[in-house]
Amino acid sequence: MRLAYDPVAFDVVDNIAWVRFNRPEKRNCMNPSLNRRMMEVLEELEYRDDVGVLVLSGEGTAWSAGMDLKEYFRESEEKGLGAVRKSQQEAYGWWRRLRWYQKPTIAMVNGWCFGGGYGPLFSCDLAFAADEAQFALSEINWGILPGGGATKVVADLLSMRDAMYHALTGELIDGKKAAEWKLVNESVPLAELRTRVKQVADVLLSKNPVALKATKDALRRVAEMTYDSAEDYLVRAQEAANYFDNEGRKEGIHQFIDEKTYKPGLGAYDK
Ligand code: ACO
Repeated sequence: MRLAYDPVAFDVVDNIAWVRFNRPEKRNCMNPSLNRRMMEVLEELEYRDDVGVLVLSGEGTAWSAGMDLKEYFRESEEKGLGAVRKSQQEAYGWWRRLRWYQKPTIAMVNGWCFGGGYGPLFSCDLAFAADEAQFALSEINWGILPGGGATKVVADLLSMRDAMYHALTGELIDGKKAAEWKLVNESVPLAELRTRVKQVADVLLSKNPVALKATKDALRRVAEMTYDSAEDYLVRAQEAANYFDNEGRKEGIHQFIDEKTYKPGLGAYDK
């Protein structure tokens, strides 16, 4: 599907896919067209050999102003429960796809980030915000609970007190506070955001891609497990990763033990 106006923009430069919410005049709020298009773009990029890292940001002043109150909520509801469920699945579907994406992902939060935006924010493995970015669970301001995963996101990432305050007051926090609360990894001035994200993406690009995928999945999986279950899962995940990447791993050992050309404690082997 190609829309005359594409609600998702992207380009691939030096193995980084820069994907952008592209409804700046609507502050990148997520309507059904954007959600459907985002799934297509993610599919297109996921297994491309020239993509090693995906960065998700927004055009204009917003990262994403959450769900589109008119098109996602009101118009879907007017069509009935089936349309509501369809709209939900379209949104949740690409967030889930992103959560388990083949490549490491980075949210580059350049501006407004509200409510439903916390879904894709959490889906990205890492998140960097502009100091100037503004975050809120604004659901309370218009009379709903933070659904679509947003409550789960703050319950998982924030302390109970911060999560409760954030959800009950709907107050804005800036990028610095978001970093302090661990909603994002770090915040930097907007003018430096892209440079910082590129720096992190380049670090990821230097690592073994099989190990990256295994590691990011393992971190999300073990968070829900007991210690013993995690230990068991990790043995199997390790063996599965070894099966798919015998050569890379052997090369990593070879360069350290035999060639002595690098130290795994200090950096990655030469791919
Ligand atoms: N849903 C529908 N339309 C939206 C949304 C949204 N979430 N956010 C912005 N828009 C539209 C505005 O209605 C406006 O449309 P118009 O040009 O046709 O009038 C346009 O985008 C620009 O928005 P402004 O409000 O004029 O932009 P401004 O920069 O002054 O303010 C802000 C930005 C603070 C983000 C404001 O638009 C806003 O409060 N948006 C809603 C944020 C929100 O609470 N989102 C829902 C979270 S809850 C959830 O996602 C489940």
